[in-house]
Amino acid sequence: MTAWIDVAAEADLFEGAGIAVAPEGQDIALFSVDGEVFAINNLCTHGNAKLCDGFVEGHNVECPFHQAQFSLRDGSVSCGPATEPVKSWPVKIEQGRVFLQLTE
Ligand code: FES
Repeated sequence: MTAWIDVAAEADLFEGAGIAVAPEGQDIALFSVDGEVFAINNLCTHGNAKLCDGFVEGHNVECPFHQAQFSLRDGSVSCGPATEPVKSWPVKIEQGRVFLQLTE
């Protein structure tokens, strides 16, 4: 069984800015780009920075601390100094709500 968790209203998301959600004790950042929603872990893998506060450029978010960039699509590192990817989470939108699949 696949568990989808309702984490936010789609209307809470704005193009080019992240928001933090905390389903089941996770710290996850949501981003809206071109009408698509992406979810990655909020904590930068390089330090104690929140990616929801980062600058969104295309399908990347730039860490507010040292400007590492992560792909919103899969959490991979697009630009250092970070070397470890952040986890990305499956997203679906249903009836204006954003759902994440938190099972591995
Ligand atoms: Fe994110 Fe250093 S804390 S790049």
